[in-house]
Amino acid sequence: MLKDFLRRISRNPVSLFGVWVTSVSAVIFFSLFGMELVGFSGSPYIGIMAFLIVPAFFIGGLLLIPFGIWRAKRRARKALEAGEAAPDEGFPILDFNSEKVRKIAMILSVLSVVNLIIIATATYKGVEIMGSTKFCGTACHTVMAPEYTTYQNSPHAKVKCVECHIGSGASWFVKSKLSGSWQLISVAFNLYQRPIPTPVHNLRPARDTCEQCHWPTKFVGDRLKVITRFNEDEENSEIKTALLIHVGGNQGSVSRGIHWHVDRGVKIRYQSDEKRQAIGDVEMTKADGTVELFKAPKPLEKAQADWRTMDCVDCHNRPSHIYRLPEDEVNTSMASGRIDRTLPFIRREAVKALKAPYATREEAAMKIRQALTGFYAKEHPDMAKARAATIEDAVKDVTRIYEGNVWPHMKINWGSYPTNLGHTQVDGCFRCHDDEHKTAAGKKISQDCALCHSVLAQDEKDPKILKDLLNP
Ligand code: HEC
Ligand code: HEC
Ligand code: HEC
Ligand code: HEC
Ligand code: HEC
Repeated sequence: MLKDFLRRISRNPVSLFGVWVTSVSAVIFFSLFGMELVGFSGSPYIGIMAFLIVPAFFIGGLLLIPFGIWRAKRRARKALEAGEAAPDEGFPILDFNSEKVRKIAMILSVLSVVNLIIIATATYKGVEIMGSTKFCGTACHTVMAPEYTTYQNSPHAKVKCVECHIGSGASWFVKSKLSGSWQLISVAFNLYQRPIPTPVHNLRPARDTCEQCHWPTKFVGDRLKVITRFNEDEENSEIKTALLIHVGGNQGSVSRGIHWHVDRGVKIRYQSDEKRQAIGDVEMTKADGTVELFKAPKPLEKAQADWRTMDCVDCHNRPSHIYRLPEDEVNTSMASGRIDRTLPFIRREAVKALKAPYATREEAAMKIRQALTGFYAKEHPDMAKARAATIEDAVKDVTRIYEGNVWPHMKINWGSYPTNLGHTQVDGCFRCHDDEHKTAAGKKISQDCALCHSVLAQDEKDPKILKDLLNP
């Protein structure tokens, strides 16, 4: 019977090819898996190779074997029907009394078990790899570099990509693999848009992702936020803004403040354009069930067909891929001492160097260095020598800032991905809170400055309120 089986396989090239592909894949698979077991884990590409590509060939080869036999049989039958002489293949008769048949059955069973082990290991490892941050962030690295880098500089640097982008459950897993396959094709054939367009319209609703970690009804209360800035004068003089933000949330049975929008029972739906920047009519359902409609001052030009239900990402649209502005970045670096604030005009010059247009990141690194060292050589030659190391530190940090926010090859520049949290970069909260969305009774979505925060100090030198808080 073994002879018969081998004869059938060897007589048809398709099965023979299948056997060859399967055996070669198995050998490669075991070598790569062995390498991983002894602790060698090179680039994520080795993992993708070992647990996604090689197993695909392995299974393909296995399927080719019966296909080849089936094809050969069909040909033989057709030949017979046409009246030509062809051997009738028929099924072999299995006689388990024969020792030979028993041996073959044993060998085939053992081989099948080995095959199953390979397929199971590969599936398990494959799913694990596709869910890893390394895979998501670096597999198509030139495309994902901006998201991966900004993510690593965010409070969510330890949260896996899949926890926000896929979440748990089989249906979203399958959906993500389907859209992932399309994305793979669009990257391979260079069909994707640069920068990647936002908002992401098929993002999983936040209650299945964000709310798995953040208790939506947690009472946050008021949050003090102090923003330190530096002026563009020679001394880079320091100024501060202090806000008391009424984040609020649920407390007992009452809910108020900013997080009221996502409290249990509250539902806000709105109409918008594709970018979700122009907002049309807004419908509010309160916890007590009353519904109110705030009409937009004028109808939208290109309204999306669906009304969107507001959730976390309508305000927190940049929880993880945070692109900052050059002024904010330089202020933070100076406040934390990475850039020495005693260098004359460093605030003005650093921002100027960052905002200049560059074609590539390499060009940016070179020209930022030239701009800063050139400025001190020309305007403060004494300092250029005496404080060369301090200037060098500033050059390094300004380059780091550029490389953490701008990717010319993806057409990502300052402000390409603005945040809706607030109203400084884009309208943000003011998309609805514009005093222009009104109910029939004339009630407005308010822009009252005290609704969301108290501005305790704005761009003040040494604000008294902060002194009082620090030295009561
Ligand atoms: C804390 C949750 C969170 C994590 C973790 C996260 N993302 Fe995102 N991501 C988002 C949200 C929310 C958006 C949608 C932004 C929008 O619609 O404007 C987004 C958008 C994107 C976009 C579209 C372009 C953009 O910048 O908005 C890409 C690509 C992306 N994420 C890739 C990744 C990759 C790769 C990782 C892991 C390295 C990751 N994400 C981790 C929440 C997350
Ligand atoms: C897997 C768990 C997890 C998920 C999912 C998650 N987060 Fe977070 N989030 C965290 C952790 C951990 C922190 C950091 C806490 C810290 O550093 O104090 C955080 C911090 C935050 C902060 C505070 C940032 C700050 O500057 O203080 C916000 C806002 C936030 N997350 C919003 C979101 C939103 C919106 C989503 C959904 C798109 C989300 N998170 C999904 C775990 C998660
Ligand atoms: C109406 C807009 C809005 C919505 C909707 C919203 N947030 Fe916020 N959230 C804010 C603002 C504004 C802050 C304060 C930001 C700051 O401190 O800089 C904040 C602060 C936070 C913080 C930090 C709180 C702390 O302890 O300091 C977390 C975490 C957070 N939000 C998570 C969420 C999650 C999860 C959701 C969805 C269930 C959500 N937010 C919905 C506007 C919103
Ligand atoms: C999609 C529209 C929309 C957006 C965007 C939006 N809001 Fe609102 N907000 C509303 C509506 C509607 C109300 C209820 C108005 C009323 O009842 O008078 C409201 C009420 C509020 C309230 C009062 C809640 C209470 O009753 O205590 C606060 C505070 C608030 N919003 C803050 C914000 C902040 C901060 C942002 C931006 C981060 C924001 N909103 C973005 C629609 C929006
Ligand atoms: C609907 C809510 C809302 C209203 C109304 C509102 N703000 Fe704000 N404002 C915010 C939020 C949210 C932030 C951002 C807080 C953060 O940085 O996390 C902010 C930030 C600010 C800042 C600090 C910006 C910076 O970076 O220096 C100032 C100043 C400010 N608001 C002034 C005002 C004034 C003046 C008004 C009245 C015309 C007003 N706001 C009305 C929600 C609101």
